[in-house]
Amino acid sequence: MSEAPHGAPIKTPGQLIAAVIAGFSIPVAIIILLAVYVNNSTRTGAGTDLEASVKERIAPVAQVDIRDANAPRVYKTGEEVFKAVCSACHATGTAGAPKFGDASAWAPRISEGYDTLLYNALNGKGAMPARGGTNPDDYSDFEIARAVVYMANDAGAKFAEPAQPAPGATASAGASAPAAGASGAAATAGGASSNENAQAAAAVAALASVPQAASAPAAGAQSADAAQAGKALYEQVCQACHAAGMLGAPKFGDKAAWALRLKDSMDTVYNYALHGKGAMPLKGGSNAPDADVKAAVDYMVNAVK
Ligand code: HEC
Ligand code: HEC
Repeated sequence: MSEAPHGAPIKTPGQLIAAVIAGFSIPVAIIILLAVYVNNSTRTGAGTDLEASVKERIAPVAQVDIRDANAPRVYKTGEEVFKAVCSACHATGTAGAPKFGDASAWAPRISEGYDTLLYNALNGKGAMPARGGTNPDDYSDFEIARAVVYMANDAGAKFAEPAQPAPGATASAGASAPAAGASGAAATAGGASSNENAQAAAAVAALASVPQAASAPAAGAQSADAAQAGKALYEQVCQACHAAGMLGAPKFGDKAAWALRLKDSMDTVYNYALHGKGAMPLKGGSNAPDADVKAAVDYMVNAVK
């Protein structure tokens, strides 16, 4: 076939151009419509909730959340507490935690009764840190109780939703030092990455309740005051990680760990504390004056001299 047949539909240059344009644009339009169709159709099953899973993956490991202490308290639901705290271990059964939704793992525990479960959640049990490693200022007894009920009921219990405390009631009875709970998590949580998550969750939870303007007001305080301020800041902020060596922090009193750091000049070490380094947040996540942060460094360094 060397010649176009007589009945060929394209006879003028205009028709040729139109045909070429249509030849490109129709497939492109079909592709766009297909893409829209594929994106909009409802998908279910693991891994399909793209937005949520991406958000989860790009979420920062550590977040310091600064609150207005006078704001009226809004209690988190059991599900929210579970997702924020307990899921670090209970979602997958890390460190032997009864797994969320695993009725056979929960049945023997549920049969102990709600009061025992709540007591153990507040005070810790084996590898389970007290309050999941959180601080009572951050998660009240009521919220921990809600999380217990949320997990237990999901696994077959029929516990009633705990009663909300009256406004102004003291938040906590089963309080325990956050660092103690956190070090429990650090010492015992299982695989490397979930271990990190649990540590991070506990450290962050401990941090979230750090009083932000807690330290001494004057930056040019006397040296006795500076030592005081350093100790106070350490106790309020730095020990959340440094007491137990969370997230790889050089542990308080651990000469070997600190000797490595103190090979650098003190200025460098101060600088790391002031501006952050790796998992070490800037000023430990506080907004204390520089002088207090340096004093807290001195306090830790003096403990290994
Ligand atoms: C660092 C890991 C970790 C975190 C975080 C954690 N748990 Fe646990 N949890 C455990 C482990 C491990 C056990 C099993 C303890 C045992 O039986 O020795 C457990 C057991 C429990 C039990 C059963 C106690 C019993 O009487 O048998 C409850 C209830 C519970 N956790 C509630 C919570 C709640 C509520 C949170 C969140 C506020 C939480 N957990 C966060 C690790 C964790
Ligand atoms: C959230 C956990 C966390 C808190 C809170 C925290 N640190 Fe750290 N800190 C770390 C970690 C992790 C490292 C190790 C960082 C690295 O080497 O990558 C570290 C390292 C340091 C170092 C050694 C830096 C060096 O290598 O020379 C100093 C000094 C220090 N922190 C001071 C402080 C002070 C002071 C505070 C309180 C105001 C504080 N940190 C609070 C986690 C923390």
